[in-house]
Amino acid sequence: MALNSTPTWRALTAHTATPLPHLRDMFAADPERFKRFSVSFDGWLLDYSKQRVSTETMSLLGALWQSADVHGWITRMRTGEAINNTEARAVGHTWLRAPLPRPEVSAVLTQMRHFCEAIHSGTWKGATGATITDIVNIGIGGSDLGPRMVTQALNAHAVPNMHVHYVANLDSADLSMKLKGLDPARTLFIVCSKTFTTQETMQNATSARTWLVGALGELAVSKHFVAVSTNLEAVAKFGIDPANAFAFWDWVGGRYSLWSAVGLSTALAIGYANFEQILAGAAAMDEHFFTAPVGENLPALLGLLQVWNTSFLGAPTQAILPYSQSLELLPRHLQQLEMESNGKRVDRSGNDLVSPACPVMWGEPGTNGQHAFYQLIHQGGRLIPCDFIAVKVPDYDLPGHHAKLLSNCFAQSEALMRGKTLAEAQEESSAELAPYKVFPGNQPSTTLLMPAITPYSVGQLVAMYEHKVFVAGCLWDINAFDQWGVEYGKQLAARLLPIIEGKASAELDSSTAGLIAASKIGT
Ligand code: F6P
Repeated sequence: MALNSTPTWRALTAHTATPLPHLRDMFAADPERFKRFSVSFDGWLLDYSKQRVSTETMSLLGALWQSADVHGWITRMRTGEAINNTEARAVGHTWLRAPLPRPEVSAVLTQMRHFCEAIHSGTWKGATGATITDIVNIGIGGSDLGPRMVTQALNAHAVPNMHVHYVANLDSADLSMKLKGLDPARTLFIVCSKTFTTQETMQNATSARTWLVGALGELAVSKHFVAVSTNLEAVAKFGIDPANAFAFWDWVGGRYSLWSAVGLSTALAIGYANFEQILAGAAAMDEHFFTAPVGENLPALLGLLQVWNTSFLGAPTQAILPYSQSLELLPRHLQQLEMESNGKRVDRSGNDLVSPACPVMWGEPGTNGQHAFYQLIHQGGRLIPCDFIAVKVPDYDLPGHHAKLLSNCFAQSEALMRGKTLAEAQEESSAELAPYKVFPGNQPSTTLLMPAITPYSVGQLVAMYEHKVFVAGCLWDINAFDQWGVEYGKQLAARLLPIIEGKASAELDSSTAGLIAASKIGT
């Protein structure tokens, strides 16, 4: 049955026929609204009282959760059923952070711990006998965004004198800029790729190898290159000592892989004990997600609200607005996590979706975004649900900053909720200017208040969003774990490369042919 024909979907559609009052009026009518629509867990607060929902909306969404059998899908995921049906794979990222990991996971974690200890203590020496001070993670997508984001988020916990860099882009500017100023004798590269075939990573790894060999000779490779991959054969072919390869498994999706050895760069940046805390935080969020009733369940509520805003209120986009500079890269990580997972056009059985699923995810940290794009959120006339993420205890605490940061965060969600009427605008400015100063308000937002930016809470945060994506995927009946949409561009790029290099020719559309002709040096 098409999703929009199910009784629960139809009930929600019918519910939208009578729009709810303006958020400002709902707050005025119900002093208990915050209490009614906020939940706490382990020092966290999720306030969704500024979403356009009523008690009835939430109970209809609860019915949608039941009819989508989210608990059944959780069980299938946990027991290793191949719920990634188009790739016939289990989905096991939660096994990576289980308090009692499987033997193969445990073995790699032990290998990671020993490696971190060797690098940090200086017992691992480079080819010249120098100790390692700089780590360069070469990877892209899930082999970059997650560890890069978490490493930056936990900068306050960084191991002294250990500098971790990330290279992803095929544009040689990325690698070249990172290598500038690095000493080959003190640099270690992690080639991080699930498949070990990704063009960008292989090219960057080859260029990095050339740089190293040029300075220290061929024999230096084994002391300066390690790899993280599921494809250990390709790792060996690349010339990396199998003893320096960290395995993971096809049941770990790239964008869900930071908990595996893909997190090695993070463990090196913040120390293995802190990496274990990230896993522990994620495991605590897993337990919460698997067991808490839907109305008290953070990922469940986030997923339900996303589907409500997107499929029933028609919001095509969602902003992620962390009021934490340390979480600067969270929107980028969530772009891949959400859009590669649920940016699909067909359901689990291959039937066309009745309407687009995943919204366009984007965002920037506050307060920077306030001086850039918030104008459009306030007055641009579009429905843009926002996730505000604030932190109770700051990780860096220069006097005078944090209260101001929080006041801005809470003021923005208040302004988006309340708006400003023409009468209010007229009270504070001239009649001519008043229309420019009207804010429609009624813009929905959720505020997540994290206890702090610690390895444990960052683990919780990322796991929470992973499960939110899972919930939304279940509600939309999508396989959130494949990514066929990235393949076509790769195929065409492989076909165009020899043409651009002047080694082949082919019939092309006039634009592509024109672009290739115009890109030739000297024309
Ligand atoms: O092209 C998309 C993708 O397959 C992502 O899903 C993945 O995270 C990324 O490429 C990198 O892949 P790999 O880790 O295999 O190099």
